[in-house]
Parts: sequence; C-alpha cells; structure tokens
Amino acid sequence: MRTDTPQTIYRKDYTAPSYLVDAVELGFDLDPARTVVANRLTLRRNDAAGTGGARREIELYGEELQLVAIRLNGKALGARDYAIDGALLRIPCDAQDVVLEIETICVPETNTTLSGLYVSNGNFYTQCEAEGFRRITYFPDRPDVMATYTVMLRADKRQFPVLLSNGNLIEEGDLPDGRHYALWEDPFKKPSYLFALVAASLVCQEETFPLQDGRRALLQVWVEEGNLDKTDYAMQSLKRSIRWDEERWNLELDLDRFMIVAVGDFNMGAMENKGLNIFNTKYVLANPRVATDVDFQGIEAVVGHEYFHNWTGNRVTCRDWFQLSLKEGLTVFRDQEFSADMIGTASGRAVTRIDQVRTLRQAQFPEDAGPMAHPVRPDSFVEINNFYTVTVYEKGAEVVRMYQTLLGRDGFRKGMDLYFARHDEQAVTCDDFRAAMADAGGRDLSQFERWYSQAGTPVVQAETHYDAERQTYTLRLVQSCPATPGQAGKLPFHIPVAVGLLGADGRDLPLTLDGVDLGTTAVLELVEADQSFVFGGVREQPTPSILRDFSAPVILKYGYSDAELVLLFSHDSDPVNRWEAGQRLAMGRLLKLAEDAAAGRSLDLDDVFVDAMRKMLVDASLDPAFREQALLLPSETMIADQMDVVDPMAIHMARQFVRADIGARLRSELRAQYDASQTPGEYSPDAESIGRRALKNLCLAYLCAAPDEAAIALARRQFDEAGNMTDRVAALGALVHARASSAVADAAAHADDALRRFYDEFQGEALVVDKWFAMQASAPTTDVAAVRALMTHPAFTLRNPNRARSLVSTFCGANPVGFHAPDGSGYAFWAESVIALDALNPQVASRLARAMDRWRRYAPALQKHMKKALQQVAGRATLSNDVREVVGKALA
Ligand code: TRP
Ligand code: ZN
Repeated sequence: MRTDTPQTIYRKDYTAPSYLVDAVELGFDLDPARTVVANRLTLRRNDAAGTGGARREIELYGEELQLVAIRLNGKALGARDYAIDGALLRIPCDAQDVVLEIETICVPETNTTLSGLYVSNGNFYTQCEAEGFRRITYFPDRPDVMATYTVMLRADKRQFPVLLSNGNLIEEGDLPDGRHYALWEDPFKKPSYLFALVAASLVCQEETFPLQDGRRALLQVWVEEGNLDKTDYAMQSLKRSIRWDEERWNLELDLDRFMIVAVGDFNMGAMENKGLNIFNTKYVLANPRVATDVDFQGIEAVVGHEYFHNWTGNRVTCRDWFQLSLKEGLTVFRDQEFSADMIGTASGRAVTRIDQVRTLRQAQFPEDAGPMAHPVRPDSFVEINNFYTVTVYEKGAEVVRMYQTLLGRDGFRKGMDLYFARHDEQAVTCDDFRAAMADAGGRDLSQFERWYSQAGTPVVQAETHYDAERQTYTLRLVQSCPATPGQAGKLPFHIPVAVGLLGADGRDLPLTLDGVDLGTTAVLELVEADQSFVFGGVREQPTPSILRDFSAPVILKYGYSDAELVLLFSHDSDPVNRWEAGQRLAMGRLLKLAEDAAAGRSLDLDDVFVDAMRKMLVDASLDPAFREQALLLPSETMIADQMDVVDPMAIHMARQFVRADIGARLRSELRAQYDASQTPGEYSPDAESIGRRALKNLCLAYLCAAPDEAAIALARRQFDEAGNMTDRVAALGALVHARASSAVADAAAHADDALRRFYDEFQGEALVVDKWFAMQASAPTTDVAAVRALMTHPAFTLRNPNRARSLVSTFCGANPVGFHAPDGSGYAFWAESVIALDALNPQVASRLARAMDRWRRYAPALQKHMKKALQQVAGRATLSNDVREVVGKALA
C-alpha cells in the first residue's frame, strides 16, 4: 500500500537497460512464513545504453523484500555501496562482466495481493506479470532483460510433494529434516515476468503427445486432489492448441514438457509462464455436472491463448509494457482464430465473430469513450496492471485482424513468418510487428500506425446515392473520432470497410469498382476523412451491407429504413451483418421505449419487429447458434452507451418490456422451438449441441420473461431433470429472474427453493458456488441490502478474487437496477468495497473501481451520489496506485 503521490511513466522516456543479464541462478528455501531466496546473476554491461554522462549503475527492483546480503564479484557490499530509493536499488558499477549475488527474505503467507510468491490453500504459487518478480528477488525486472534461468527448489516433502518451475527437470532428491529438492533449467532466454514456480500438494493428468517433428512432449494438468475428474477438457484443449499452432502457423512446441497448474486464488484468467502455465481454476476445471457450455468454451480459448503465447509473447516478447498489445492483441487474435477453426463451419465462425463484436460493444467501446480511454499502445500509465484492458486485448486483436483483412490470409501469414524470422528471442515493439507486415506484404502501412497511437472509437458515417440512369451507386464514407483524455484532434485512420450490395430479392449484386470486378464483397480502404466509392453496372437500387464481418472496430452510422433492415436481417449473405441488422432493428425500438418509460408513457412494440423475430426463430434452415445470437437483444449496457443521459431504470423497463412482449406474443413458437432444440443423449460440448442448448435456453428465458404457470413449470422441470450444468443454471436463472412476477403463484418461493437446492447440491464446488452468488448478484430484484446479506453467508470471502467478483463486482457491474438505486446506496456500497478490497488486493479492487468509469453520463441526481462515492475513495490517505489512478482519472 502506497501513500506517496503516484508517478506517471511515459513511453517516450524509454531507455535501454544499463546492464543485461545472461544467466540467473535462483535457490529457494520455501517456507510460508519466511522464504529465503538466493539469487546469482551474471550481468554484462550494455554498451548500447548511454548513461547520459552520469555514472553507470546497475538498476534492480525489489518490493516487500528483506535484504540480507549483496555481493558483487565476490565482494560483500555495505550500505554505502548502493542506494535504495523506493522500489529501485542502484549499484554504481562500470565493470564489463559482473556476478551479483543477492539474498532476500519474503513472506508468502501474508501476501494477499496474489502478485509475487504467495500461498493459496496451503500451496505455493507465483504470479510475476507484470512486475511481480521484484516481490521475489531484486532484479532488473523489465521485459527487455532476457536471461536463462536455473532454479533450485527446496521444501518440506510431505507438505509440498510437487516442486515445479520453468523448462526441464534436471534432478530431484531428498534432503535432511523431511525436505526435498528439485532442480529446473529453462534453456530459453526469457524476461522475468515469465518466471514461475509451484510447490504444492497436487495431482496430475498426464500424457505424452507426438509433435510434428517427431519428438514427444510430456503434457501435464496439475490440480488439487479431488479435481482429477475435471481435467479432461483442458488436456484435450491443450492438444488441439499444439496441433493447431503447428498446422496453421508452423509453430512448434519448443520444450519437452508443458505443464498447466490450476489455482483457486488468481487475479486474472491465466498466465503464460514458460512451460509452466498457471491458471485460474475457472479456466481448467470442467465436467458436465459443474461447468456450462460457456465454461467449456472459455477453457478452450484460454488454454489456447496461454499456449499460443509461447511464440507470441515468450519467444518474441515486449520491449516495454507500453507494447503489451504486441503480445496480447496478437495472442487474442490467435485464440479467436483457433476457436473459430475448431468449429469449422462458416456459420460457426460467424457466431464466434458475433461474440467478439458483442464484447467490443459491451466493454471496449464504453472504455474508449470514458475517462480511462487509452490507445492500443498507451503513451503513459501510473500502474501497468490497470492497462490489461479490453482495449489492449480485444481492440488490439481487431487491429491484428485488420492486417489480415488488408493483406489477405496468405499475406498475413508471410508477415507472421517474417516477424518470427526477424525477432525470435528478442524484445520488440508494435512498430516492429507493423514493419514485418508492411515488408512482407510490400505495402505502406504508415497511416495504419494511428490504430496504435490514437484512442477512441472511430465513427464512420455512410451516405449513398443511386444513379439509375448511369447505373452507378456512390458510397460516401466520412470518418471522425471523438476526443479522448489527452488527445483532442485525431487524424484519419486506415480503415478496411468490407461492403456488399443486396438487390431487392436479397441476393448479392456483383461489384465493379473502376472497371475492376470485385466479386460480391469488396474491401474498401478508407484512408481520407471523406472519401467516395462509385460502383458501376448497378442495375437496381441496392441495399448496402457495410462493414461485413465487422471489418474494423468502428461505429457505423447509416440511415437504414426498417424495410432495408428487415431485408438484411432475412437475406444478407454475410451472417455478421445479418445479425447486425437485427440488432439495429432492436436498438431503435429499445431507445424509443426507454424514452417512453422515462416519460411514463405506455409501452408498445410494433408488428414489423415481432414478425422479424418470429421468422428468425422458426427458420430451421439456420443454425440454432446463429438464431440464438440473432434473437438476443442488445444488453442494457449497450443501450446505455447509445444514450446521452443514461437512465438505468428506464432502460431496464424497456428491455424487460420487449422481452416479455416477445415471450407473450411468440409463446407457441418459443415453446415449439424449445422442444425442437433438445439435445438428448450424453452431454457434449460441441458447437452444434452448444447452439441447440443456447437457443432452447433463450426460448425458456423469453417464456419466463412473461411467465405464466406453464412457463414456470417448464423451468422447474428443466431444473429438476437437467443432466448438465448449462441447462441447470439456465433454468435457475429463469426462475430467479421471474421471482417478482405477479402472474404466477409462489414465483418467489420457486426461486428460493431452486436456489437453496442448488447450493446444497454444489456447496463443495467452489466454481459453482461462484455461479450461485453471481446469479443472485445480477438479478434485478437484488438490492444492496440483499447483497450485504449474502456477504454474511459462510461461503463468502473478499480474499478469494473469484468469490469477491461473483458477488460484489457482479452486483456493481451487471445489475444496473440494483446498483443505480436512486438513493445512492449502491455507490456507497461500491466505495466501501473498493476500500476494503484495496487493503487486500489492489488489482482486484482497481477492476471494481472501474464500475464507476462512466459516472458523468448519468442523470444529475445519480451523478451527485456517484461523485460523492468517488471522492470518498479518492480522499483516503492510503490507497494503492492501482485504485488511485482509476478514481483519479474518473474525477479529472
Ligand atoms: N498475460 C496474461 C494473459 O494474457 C495476463 C495475466 C495473468 C496478468 N495474470 C496477470 C496480467 C496478473 C497482470 C497481472 O493471459
Ligand atoms: Zn495473454
């Protein structure tokens, strides 16, 4: 916990390290109360780094360490031989070659931050990204210092029978006093943030797996005893990831052993430590009884993501943390492509793409429009942990995807090959990646750089004109980008805009531009602020399908009529834009209804919309997964993002009204589709079955949005009879969300009964208990008082991030009605929780702090309460840099 004014770090201030580290030898005597770390560094003066005339120094970082001894080339250093200033330890030194030996002590059992070396359920784990290694030992803890590591672990054998670190196991054996040791060696140079160790009582599922080049790799998934029935899907996902990286990118596993370890206390999803990935249990443990389809999909994506980092992140790493998207944007893109390829069908790919667009609109566009807006490659930060954001990850992945759209799949692959050929075992920048793409594709991508440097979501305004006489169709695109904190004026982006034109019958028209035949989808390159494209040979007035496959992360504005949207929704050959047309139809109505609700007018939904939804629902020619996406309304957050002044209650009433009206007016079709979408037989998390369950459970949700006795009976029966967690939790959700219904006798009793039985059955499964808390936290009938009551439940604790998030963060982030209570009680609860969490775990607290990001968008009465809560947090004398940066920017 820091009290001093936090320092801002600037990208422009980057300087090369004064010394490089060739080799690191670490010795750990592991004890929860007092771990001794012996660190022997072989350093080499970095003559490429100037000292600006000053004396050269070795710069090491350390936090929360007790320094026992330092020796430089064998000579013990006294307090006058070095200076400690905050986290920085500086040793004046100009020697060419240096061996530095450092001994420190840390206390893992009191480390509640889950950064550095910590204890979870009695076992040791590490988390070093971004700057956790300095909590283990003094080190030049920056990603451009890459070294080889040799690690000796010693610990009590009975308590910690498993001793793991990066790379290859060299030797293990017994020691006196019931202790044992293991020696690990990682042959590849790596930055300190990729270091990891695990000393624990665990069991594993393992197998050897043949690699493309004929070697065999040992694969292991390590979990606590009792969870071996939940490791299968992670292992399968790992094998698929290895195979896919070989086949699609010709990238091979470079180690003989690859380990995944699951831990219950973890700040994020997972971590790509070299050869020893450490995972939140949420992204490892699964079987049909306890995990939903979404959980299975999450495991495949995150196992893939961390595995793919081995090349994009580990072999080629980041020069500094401003380049974070170099590895994260690229690796998210790779995991997205992996998930899409695993489904295989065009329709399946589109469903994954729609999910990605949803995430952007739900989280990234709001971030880009708020006080924490930052470029994909930020220019400054106070706390780097605050920049593991949807902008760096998901918008960063969109930026990578645009290279592929501009260069084509083959051109992009050539760019990737060149990137690895040039930069293997180096720490590089986003500019280096862009240069590899430009050079491999023979293209000028200098304007494309603005995707990295300019924050904010670009707006593309489209206008069209059809000239029947000349048979030309003009598409005028005007781009702009709103100001963001610290960035007033923006320059035009290089935007790939994929376009198609539909005839009156809904079929694609052939596209001709400047006499060139472009098939039925053309990728236009918008580079000017205002640019027109004239299609020739257009025989009829077309309907434009713009931004197909969501070809750029922008907001497209075009004055579509309802008739045009209905045409696109029924016929567009591009499934993403087909879905998009439905979202536009829905959004127009939701915004109007929210206004009506705010004004106290009666609410009414037109037949055009309901008919379009009906047709989509019953169209058996379309995959269930796609229909589910098409029938799902924009979320309350997405609706709020479209409003100048946000009224959460009015939005909720509008959306609930539409759900209930669809539920009532399409009751028989929903019921029929519910029956038609069953997945009899053994549970399988394949795309087809997942799609059927999703559509079936959306039908159930609609039916229970306007509940009658039959709908509730259906939900109760599904809850009782479901053979898997997906159907179980969907039925529970339907009952909980219908708990306040007056049309059904005992609605509340049914909800409470299901909740009680669910808890009784799954109280031994932490991840399912998280679902139980989250389900209640997000229900609109849950207010602050109910959340406070749940916090007194014996299973609740703020110390476990998953549990804290399941109740507190879910309430503040996913229950607009409860959180935005007019009396401000939700905000007071938020302030209290941020402060309490900050004392334990700044990273988790800081994420929660961001629930208040967009406070200036709310009605004045709410704003007043929100500001007070923000000031209450900001006014604390002791606050982490993490939380201080977030609330400071919110109030600025
Ligand atoms: N590099 C990790 C990933 O993308 C992210 C991560 C895991 C992380 N744990 C962290 C980032 C802790 C910051 C702090 O998969
Ligand atoms: Zn990552």
